[in-house]
Amino acid sequence: MKQNDSHYVPAFGLHGLTPFYDPFARLFNALRSRLIQQANIQSGQRALDLGCGTGLLTRLVKQSAPEAHVTGLDGDDEVLKIARDKSRGTDIQWDEGLATDLPYPDQSFDVVVSSFVTHHLTGADKVRAFKEVHRILRPDGGFYILDFGPPFNLLTRVQASVMKNFEITVDNFAGRILPMLTEAGFGRVKEAEHVITFFGPVSFYQAVKGA
Ligand SMILES: C[S@@+](CC[C@H](N)C(=O)[O-])C[C@H]1O[C@@H](n2cnc3c(N)ncnc32)[C@H](O)[C@@H]1O
Repeated sequence: MKQNDSHYVPAFGLHGLTPFYDPFARLFNALRSRLIQQANIQSGQRALDLGCGTGLLTRLVKQSAPEAHVTGLDGDDEVLKIARDKSRGTDIQWDEGLATDLPYPDQSFDVVVSSFVTHHLTGADKVRAFKEVHRILRPDGGFYILDFGPPFNLLTRVQASVMKNFEITVDNFAGRILPMLTEAGFGRVKEAEHVITFFGPVSFYQAVKGA
């Protein structure tokens, strides 16, 4: 495992639970598909799934654009093994690495997608990871994030009041993802859409690297 500090949060919170993550997480595939529609990945483009987990989003990217060069990266070798096993026969590259120290050259991807990962990172690591994504994207490349976001009605305010008590989710519920993307250097940032889920409000964030 590449996790080098106590802040690393595995897919289902605890390492012993990782084998149970995939059947639970696939319940949110409709949201992942929506993210991929927004990212609109084209044939021949290089796409990275940041914090790919068991590869649910990564495989949907490949299905949506079979001729794209698709890479899934995660810091946990146990979850990556599940991703590899579930994707046999599919042309996807799986890399072990940390979001805060991406093992790729500058400007090597056209698109980066990421689902349900930012709330696993501390505030400082979110900004570090966003800077890394900015570095590896080509000019005008896009970063598409699906994760918890600020509340937008009474019910989501109640949900967020509970969920924000977890240290690393607070930035999401407090609406800090967009300012953090700007701090990392992205030119155009926006929340494209938001939806309510059982666990709280979820946002679709978009950030474009300026030319
Ligand atoms: C909730 S899971 C989401 C997995 C997948 N994106 C999905 O939609 O199912 C969060 C993932 O982020 C990974 N992760 C957490 N911190 C990370 C870091 N610093 N670098 C790379 N991956 C990280 C975890 O190992 C886990 O697989």
